[in-house]
Amino acid sequence: MKSRFVALGLILIFNLSFIASAFTYDIKTQPGYEEFIKYLDKIFFVSTDEMKNIIKDFHSEMVNGLSGSNSSLKMIPSFTDRANGTEKGKFIALDFGGTNFRVMLVDLDGKGGVFVSSVDKYVIDKQYMEGTGEQLFDFIASGIKKIMEKNNISSHNQLELAFTFSFPVEQTNIAAGRLLIWVKGFTASGVVGKDVVVMLNEALKRIGIKNLKVAALVNDTVGTLVAKSYTEPSCDIGVVLGTGTNACYSEKMVNIKKWREISDKETMIVNMEWGNFNKLPITVYDKNVDATSSNPGAQRLEKMVSGMFLGEILRVVVHDLIDRNLIFQDESAINAFSNHPDFTTQDVALIEADNTDNLENVEVFLAKKGVKNITLESKKLLKHISKLVSCRSAKLAASSIAAVVLWIDPELKNKHVIGIDGSLFEKYPGYKEMMDDALKSLFKENSEHIVLEQAKDGSGVGAAIIAASVASTNNIKH
Ligand code: BGC
Repeated sequence: MKSRFVALGLILIFNLSFIASAFTYDIKTQPGYEEFIKYLDKIFFVSTDEMKNIIKDFHSEMVNGLSGSNSSLKMIPSFTDRANGTEKGKFIALDFGGTNFRVMLVDLDGKGGVFVSSVDKYVIDKQYMEGTGEQLFDFIASGIKKIMEKNNISSHNQLELAFTFSFPVEQTNIAAGRLLIWVKGFTASGVVGKDVVVMLNEALKRIGIKNLKVAALVNDTVGTLVAKSYTEPSCDIGVVLGTGTNACYSEKMVNIKKWREISDKETMIVNMEWGNFNKLPITVYDKNVDATSSNPGAQRLEKMVSGMFLGEILRVVVHDLIDRNLIFQDESAINAFSNHPDFTTQDVALIEADNTDNLENVEVFLAKKGVKNITLESKKLLKHISKLVSCRSAKLAASSIAAVVLWIDPELKNKHVIGIDGSLFEKYPGYKEMMDDALKSLFKENSEHIVLEQAKDGSGVGAAIIAASVASTNNIKH
């Protein structure tokens, strides 16, 4: 009996020193392979109790954000609400939010019908992401000019633009807002603190377009919610799980305590900017990813959940394992896993989804990265880590959604359709199922009240719907 206690004590001491060492990267006692995997399993595992804590912390941060107190959730009023399906008109929609931007011509028939007649897509090169604000907005304006020329849109008719800008913006009205901070790898100079609509207007003027007015400035989550609710009235939350992550929902005006203006509206959509939520079980690997990002300290939830970071999390974990001689005992692997940020979420997905006997797809992938002498055990470990990273992401995303649903409906009595856009949700194999499982573990059979539905490319259309509702309030005919 006594010896069992001694053994337990030793295991405890070993584990504690091991956890401490893993957090500081300064290990004196080298843990064995099995122990280290158990440790990874533990730190990446999000238990149901932890999910409940996250929900509780979300609620207190929401209260603070809505009242204007210090909070990691900005809870930004969007100056708009859900659609009623009667919005009508023709708009140019600009959707700018991450690795690429799109310009579209959107026609709304006023009966729930949406017709998109032209879509141009542009990849945003690093030179624009990291150059000057003027260069970036000139590039966007040139995309708008092209679609106008292509569709023979006369430069005499007055036209309206619906502008989706998927970054943290403090809106001052429906068509104005200051950029609070760059996220998703953007650092273009001279934009933070400025009104992005003014910057776009100046770029349009520089390029000779004078007949285009920005009718609405919209976050992509808001566009997603509005587009989904155009045809699905029980959709009350819009979420993006893509390069970045965020959510919005329709809030009672009385709850938006920081709202100082008089309004006859009962509800308004609030852009939560949940990517910045920071009451989270953070690992040493997350600290590492954060420290080398373009905005250290910010967007902590985003850095654990979104598509921009899952590859990087995998890379830093594997890099640590190589350092500890626990995986890939070959020099070539050190080079392959040293490059920040050389791993993408598609890579994580490819590794996790490889169901061949000898993990041949993983082998091909590693060989392309230049890794030599690959063992089956190493490939299995890589797959295991990929699963840990994606599963944690899905559980955190599900907990965040659960928090918003419970905020709106504390007893989960009604059905809530969550309109979700973004490549992580759309393309990562099994991601939705992992989210559904997490919701089941929280709410048992009641989880059926939360319906996660894809709302593909909704943000541009949603912005057009918002522009139409602004126009109808102002009695402008399109
Ligand atoms: C931005 C949000 C945006 C989200 C999804 C985040 O990085 O802060 O404004 O909604 O990405 O695109």
